Amino acid sequence: MIILVTGSNGLLGQKIVGQLLKSNIQFIATSLGENRNSACPAINYQSLDITNEEAVITIFDEVKPTIVINTAAMTNVDACEEDEDNCRKINVHGVGLLFAACKQSDAHFIHLSTDFVFDGEAGPYREMDRRNPLSIYAKSKVDSENLLIRSAYKNWAILRTIIVFGEGENLSRSNIVLWAKSALKKGDPLTIVNDQFRAPTWADDLAWACIQTAKIKANGILHISGPETISIYELVIRVGKFYGLNTSIIQPISSQTLNQKAKRPARTGFVLKRAKSTLGYEPMSLEQSLALIKN
Ligand SMILES: NC(=O)c1ccc[n+]([C@@H]2O[C@H](COP(=O)([O-])OP(=O)(O)OC[C@H]3O[C@@H](n4cnc5c(N)ncnc54)[C@H](OP(=O)(O)O)[C@@H]3O)[C@@H](O)[C@H]2O)c1
Repeated sequence: MIILVTGSNGLLGQKIVGQLLKSNIQFIATSLGENRNSACPAINYQSLDITNEEAVITIFDEVKPTIVINTAAMTNVDACEEDEDNCRKINVHGVGLLFAACKQSDAHFIHLSTDFVFDGEAGPYREMDRRNPLSIYAKSKVDSENLLIRSAYKNWAILRTIIVFGEGENLSRSNIVLWAKSALKKGDPLTIVNDQFRAPTWADDLAWACIQTAKIKANGILHISGPETISIYELVIRVGKFYGLNTSIIQPISSQTLNQKAKRPARTGFVLKRAKSTLGYEPMSLEQSLALIKN
């Protein structure tokens, strides 16, 4: 087994690389920029723009991956709303190029998607529930999923996940736990939405699920998230309390008042039954994962 990981500078990519290094699985890590993850040996790293067809074909010829884990994406939901072309180029066209190369070489394709494919009216969601994307980012993920779902080639898995948190090195984007911790330490008043409900996912659990999917070549759609669906407001309060920070400065706010550029689903959360039975997935509780981050 040789795994090709895309987006290895990202939060999930770094966790996958970390876990692969502890295993004896051969892998090559790739990301758009230079390697920003000091844990990833230079010999295991190559820059790869997944939207460059020639580069994708070349790396498949050189590395001959048997599995591809695609974590690369334009992940900033509001930025996608402002730059639809770039969003679709990375999140749909790039995925199409990787999937075509997998089909050509009979490799197993593991693709990351999101709870935002749902409209948030009927969470928690099962894998086969009806999708109804509310934003350009969400639509791009639905379209990338469709490339796989509608293909005659069935050697693929889609892992949908929900706000991923954890620590990483030189991340281009923060995440809710790191952000909340640092904002609460500064002590400035915070307003946090209390009408958006999510099941926050520890990046290490998600990385484990990606590698387990690769090991058993699981097929189809899998929902991977933390075990508990809570409001973003409650999440920030619990992060603050866990780290012994002053949470009285946190004020609830409605999505309507916050007026984010991209529309978000109100309540997502996942039914994890398939991930548990297929992969043996058992996510940590929020506080268990915060304790591991602290250590
Ligand atoms: N984070 C969440 O809360 C969340 C929730 C639901 C789903 N997801 C999905 O889970 C996956 C992983 O998320 P994440 O949080 O780890 O993302 P992330 O930290 O934003 O990392 C994404 C990585 O994609 C790489 N990338 C961007 N454009 C690229 C291109 N054209 N070619 C190659 N690489 C490119 C970037 O590489 P460089 O840094 O080298 O530029 C970046 O490191 C994504 O598919 C995301 O949509 C994430």
